[in-house]
Amino acid sequence: MYNSVLITGAASGIGEAIAVHLAHQGFKVFASARSKDKLKSLTGLGGRRISALALDVTDSASIEAALAEIAAEGAPLFGLVNNAGVPAIGPLERATPEDWRKAFETNLFGLAAVTNAVLPQMRAAGRGRIVNIGSLTGRIVMPFQGVYAASKHAVEGYTDALRRELAPFGVKVSLIRPGAINTPFGAHEAETLDQFETDEIYGDQVKIFKAWFEKQHPTAPGPNVVADAVHAALIADRPHSRYTAPAKMQGALALRNLLPSAMTDRILARVTGLNKFRKRR
Ligand SMILES: NC(=O)c1ccc[n+]([C@@H]2O[C@H](COP(=O)([O-])OP(=O)(O)OC[C@H]3O[C@@H](n4cnc5c(N)ncnc54)[C@H](OP(=O)(O)O)[C@@H]3O)[C@@H](O)[C@H]2O)c1
Repeated sequence: MYNSVLITGAASGIGEAIAVHLAHQGFKVFASARSKDKLKSLTGLGGRRISALALDVTDSASIEAALAEIAAEGAPLFGLVNNAGVPAIGPLERATPEDWRKAFETNLFGLAAVTNAVLPQMRAAGRGRIVNIGSLTGRIVMPFQGVYAASKHAVEGYTDALRRELAPFGVKVSLIRPGAINTPFGAHEAETLDQFETDEIYGDQVKIFKAWFEKQHPTAPGPNVVADAVHAALIADRPHSRYTAPAKMQGALALRNLLPSAMTDRILARVTGLNKFRKRR
């Protein structure tokens, strides 16, 4: 019997890569997405070990229905990969309550809801793995990414507590921190920034930031670096509490931990070109 794993947000990008990779590695994969139609191309892949499920992480009825389908297949879950996530970008002063709600409802509350739904079966089995997809932005925050960064910081805190609470039950919890990864996510964020380019207060800063930001994702590593890290977290006897993907981004994290914030601020301003911006009165 293959170990089975549920992945949220698997219709594109990182989730899709994780689904295909894990299926090739012999896992039975339940790939889920808000719309099952979006998963059509996946189901023939990975030695046909991928089953498609509809699952909206913000909808408790949808979570329940997806878990009932998994139970009906008689494949108790060994792993959960909480991958579904939405971007949020723009000046904090312009973020609406709806922007905040949307980011937290998917990136944190949805992640916690799916986790709670699978936990009873993992606890009963005395084993299981939960792998949360956080972000490097959960540690290093660029300007205009405040709402998203806050939600990913929250995932960091949530994951630490969860890992410690579940250790006695044999359920192991890891966080993956992807850096910029070449998926549809980045283009979506860049498009969202467009509306702020004409902003009276922030427009000039946004233009500079966007020029830098747009270059990041197309040249970034593909999602397989994240899939490798997820696989490592699922198969290691003693998984790390955190994985950085790609691993070379650990250098940036080490610097962030070492340097005073004022120096990090100056470095990030120089990297993005925002050091050239001077406020006009
Ligand atoms: N790409 C990066 O540079 C990067 C870096 C760090 C972390 N991450 C994280 O990696 C994860 C995957 O992102 P990605 O880069 O692969 O982007 P992506 O291709 O946009 O994938 C995000 C997925 O989440 C799904 N989703 C959104 N809301 C959902 C909901 N309520 N219920 C279920 N699924 C939902 C989307 O499905 P729909 O098609 O239905 O919208 C989409 O398939 C996210 O958590 C993101 O924060 C990405």
